[in-house]
Amino acid sequence: MKIITGITELRHHLRDEPQIAFVPTMGNLHEGHMSLIHEAKKRCNHVVVSIFVNRLQFLPHEDFDCYPRTFEDDCRLLSAVNVKTVFAPNEKILFPTTQEFLLALPPVADILEGKFRPGFFRGVATIVLKLFNIIQPDLAVFGKKDYQQLHIVREMVKQLNIPIEIVAGETVRAEDGLALSSRNQYLDATQRLEARQLYQTLLQIKQKVIAGCKDFKALEGNAINHLVQHGWKVDYISIHNRSSLMPASEQDRNLVVLGAARLNSTRLIDNLEITS
Ligand code: PAF
Repeated sequence: MKIITGITELRHHLRDEPQIAFVPTMGNLHEGHMSLIHEAKKRCNHVVVSIFVNRLQFLPHEDFDCYPRTFEDDCRLLSAVNVKTVFAPNEKILFPTTQEFLLALPPVADILEGKFRPGFFRGVATIVLKLFNIIQPDLAVFGKKDYQQLHIVREMVKQLNIPIEIVAGETVRAEDGLALSSRNQYLDATQRLEARQLYQTLLQIKQKVIAGCKDFKALEGNAINHLVQHGWKVDYISIHNRSSLMPASEQDRNLVVLGAARLNSTRLIDNLEITS
């Protein structure tokens, strides 16, 4: 496995590769990331994984400084599954000057996560586009855990005519249903037990919609109350149309219920696709 920090060296290293699959990460790898890498390896011999904690997607009060950085462990995991290339640039390499060119995103970036983390998707889309330009992969794998991110990257690739196939990786869950996330490690033992409620709540909505319930507003409201009673601060629990990611209407059949809520200072997100 080759670990590369520079852009010129990376381009030189990849220049004769017939096919490249790319998995962008911010490191602190867990089984969720490893399953995305597995998806990439199924499709391409040469997998490039990037590790870069992207300042552009953190708000000033968020956890950029204390975001877990575990580079050595990450490299051990990647080498064990025969990833060929790790791209691990530092900030000076990706932002040699202030990043003044930033993407302007469509309204879908201002709802859900975008409403509670203004500028988040602009930061994500800008870094993803930079990484795409540097690596020029044939395909890139993004997890459904970050459903809105996956949607926005897909739209970006479509609308900007970027010749990269976007592959969606399924969410990996702990036994009790909690979606794996680097931020789960911020939870103490009591919070960790409670954390499964987010998944359970989304699951109940899914079951009720499949059983024929069309009163989405009531389902969302009841779910929020339930979580609040269990000590959560809820940003949103919301049922959306899967292809537009806009709020669902009664006629929609392909849905996704998305949720974001805080246990103390730890913010968790999750979602479940629903076909009704
Ligand atoms: O999903 C993530 O880990 C990040 O948003 C990404 C895609 C690596 C961009 O920094």
